Amino acid sequence: MSQPVASQRSNIASFIAMDVMREAKTLARAGAEIVHLEVGEPGAAPPRAVREGAIAALSGGRVSYTEALGIPALREAIAKNYATKYGMTVDPARVIVTTGSSGGFVLGFLAMLDHGGRIGIPNPGYPAYRNILDALGIESVPIETGPQSRYALSAAAIRAVHAEKPLDAVLLMSPANPTGVLTPASEVRAIAETCAELGIWLVSDEIYHGLTYQGEEATALAYSDDAVIVNSFSKYYCMTGWRVGWLVVPERLIRPIECLQQNLSISVPYLSQIAAVAAFEATEELEIIKAGYAKNRAILMEALPRLGLPPLPMDGAFYAYCDIAQYSNDSMDFARRALREAGLAITPGLDFDPVGGNRFVRFSYAGSEQDIVTAVKRLEGWLGKRS
Ligand SMILES: Cc1ncc(COP(=O)(O)O)c(C=O)c1O
Repeated sequence: MSQPVASQRSNIASFIAMDVMREAKTLARAGAEIVHLEVGEPGAAPPRAVREGAIAALSGGRVSYTEALGIPALREAIAKNYATKYGMTVDPARVIVTTGSSGGFVLGFLAMLDHGGRIGIPNPGYPAYRNILDALGIESVPIETGPQSRYALSAAAIRAVHAEKPLDAVLLMSPANPTGVLTPASEVRAIAETCAELGIWLVSDEIYHGLTYQGEEATALAYSDDAVIVNSFSKYYCMTGWRVGWLVVPERLIRPIECLQQNLSISVPYLSQIAAVAAFEATEELEIIKAGYAKNRAILMEALPRLGLPPLPMDGAFYAYCDIAQYSNDSMDFARRALREAGLAITPGLDFDPVGGNRFVRFSYAGSEQDIVTAVKRLEGWLGKRS
């Protein structure tokens, strides 16, 4: 008797950073002292007001479903933040609360693109875009970034890829993961104008907004009312495990996304939504955390080139994407050995770039300064390079 088999659509690549985390945690449970630089996750707790908001809501007793589009208080707070942060008026009706930005991607991709649709994704890039799209039967088309555009997505590159075979959408990510590179405002505008001219969707992942150390971050919404903005409380607001994010969408996508969310998850967790309302009031606390990342960044910017691991421009987010060519052309092997031999959990570039990624690894510097100092010491010893 034959057993039914797993679907073809679920045959997607793993998220290697998460695999590394699992292995690092197994080693730690067995007594190894591991420094975690593999997952893009703030080491700090969420702001006090966020935690207090959740406690108060929990004390209230009932934890219920909410409206599929999110609680009005949170949608309004998010809309208001566009006024505070970017000086823009956004109608709260266009704001949709999602289960992290990850949930937002699934909803957004389903609402914008049909099975067989094509979306351009910057390469290197966040692996889950590609893997989610594979599961949904949407083709992700890599758009190479390189030194000619300082590793940022450019309007010219979009045009070139679209000319070869038309795209239905393009995804912009700035500051980017894994590179940390910021796309300048002038290029964000050019990309928005190009998408409008070509008649294709623009999706802008702005999850690392708030975490820029050089240059000025620009929201695509400033240049296109038609852009689909994806954002989250996970990174700047230190709320990874709360699973709450948001979309800002053009009016014609509101109802399709509402129907999708009603059916796919009913609503985003109630406690997380209540708690997130307070996040925008916690700027002082969050800026202190960001200053910690800036210190970590400065330590790595000095150490990594000296250690023969030159990073791409570290404009924002909390990543250093480093060239390991001096040591290896196999990033999986390099990362495996770093974990086993030096107790350093890092992510192989192959996670972000199936072709060129073998020459890179990514370090996350979202943890403590002590973690970064220890990591540098261990790298010095492991790579046999001391100052
Ligand atoms: C670029 C980018 N987008 C989206 C996400 C997903 O984050 P979340 O679902 O926690 O909002 C991540 C997480 O690392 C990311 O790096």
